[in-house]
Amino acid sequence: MENGREGKKQIPLLRPYKMGNFQLSHRIVLAPLTRRRAFKTIPQPHAILYYSQRTTNGGLLISEATVVSETAQGYPNTPGIWNKEQVEAWKPIVDAVHAKGGIFFCQLWHAGRVSMQDFQRNGDKPVSSTDKAIFGDEDQQFPPPRRLKTDEIPHVVNEFRIAAKNAIEAGFDGVEIHGGFGYLIDQFFKDQVNDRTDKYGGSLENRCKFALEIVEAISNEIGAERVGIRLSPFSNYMEAIDSNPNSLGLYMAEALNKYGILYCHMVEPRADNNGEISENHTLLPMRLAFKGTFIVNGGYKREDGNKAMDENYADLVAFGRWFISNPDLPKRFELNAELNKYDRDMFYTFDPVVGYTDYPFLEDNFLFH
Ligand SMILES: Cc1cc2nc3c(=O)[nH]c(=O)nc-3n(C[C@H](O)[C@H](O)[C@H](O)COP(=O)(O)O)c2cc1C
Repeated sequence: MENGREGKKQIPLLRPYKMGNFQLSHRIVLAPLTRRRAFKTIPQPHAILYYSQRTTNGGLLISEATVVSETAQGYPNTPGIWNKEQVEAWKPIVDAVHAKGGIFFCQLWHAGRVSMQDFQRNGDKPVSSTDKAIFGDEDQQFPPPRRLKTDEIPHVVNEFRIAAKNAIEAGFDGVEIHGGFGYLIDQFFKDQVNDRTDKYGGSLENRCKFALEIVEAISNEIGAERVGIRLSPFSNYMEAIDSNPNSLGLYMAEALNKYGILYCHMVEPRADNNGEISENHTLLPMRLAFKGTFIVNGGYKREDGNKAMDENYADLVAFGRWFISNPDLPKRFELNAELNKYDRDMFYTFDPVVGYTDYPFLEDNFLFH
């Protein structure tokens, strides 16, 4: 057993790391995970237990995607952060994470065209970079969006700025801009979606402009040392595809340096739906280009996480599904303990306990077996 005590070698994922002003005690990050257990847009008290279960002293947690404005909502029961009631409801959740020594970032989200019309006021269309609808499937149908006019874009940038300010007021240590997975910012990035002819469309530089304006506005508001961004150039989720994801990722990694933000969080390309990593070291050029903290995610487990740390491929690794089912994931990695399996059917239910806060800790296993 490697546990870092008595001179035994500590596993690389458990090495401390200084992320800007934050002293992290290990490299295992809670990935942003939508769980749809808010009541309408208000986060609920059961989230206190959920996040505090996943908190370690000096561990970094990223919140579930949190909606920046009324028009930004895509799915039911996802929390928001644009009004006072939402800010107040987040406070005890953030406090609980802080009480255990965690560092908590709020992921800021605008779903863009990945939004049911029901969420929009007076049946308005959801907004996007385009007016092309997502093709969808039988289970999920999305209405055609409305292409944002050029002079409306600063208004959306401003919504992100206000949401970031609110996140800090709620007590979060910083924010992560959700620039991935086919949501609004990704709808601007990806050339198979963005069909604009104004200064926000066409060239790679133009397609990245919206994201960088958000980065700048938020950095000016709360300080770049509290700002991260998540990017998934290789993802085709929600039909947001780019013909040259390597260039997109690299351009963004370089462009972000100008703002001096804290971290860049990149999602690996995937071979298949099982989440196996398809290629090795795809993100290396981006890791080398970006000057701040580099977080990787997607299909990682203990061994390849350790390897990524050992090879300095990244500074931190975010874990999603395994952190859902293993609230004590860092402890399990330390002890090389078995992991609880996750139950996909409970990922997005409204149940405040089942599949949410009832995954057993290691101590529970010892008690009952
Ligand atoms: C239930 C569930 C909810 C998710 N919600 C979000 C989210 O709110 N924001 C986000 O950026 N990614 C979200 N993701 C993607 C995860 O953060 C992560 O990128 C993905 O699960 C791959 O990492 P993993 O292999 O460690 O699970 C979600 C994934 C799952 C399974």
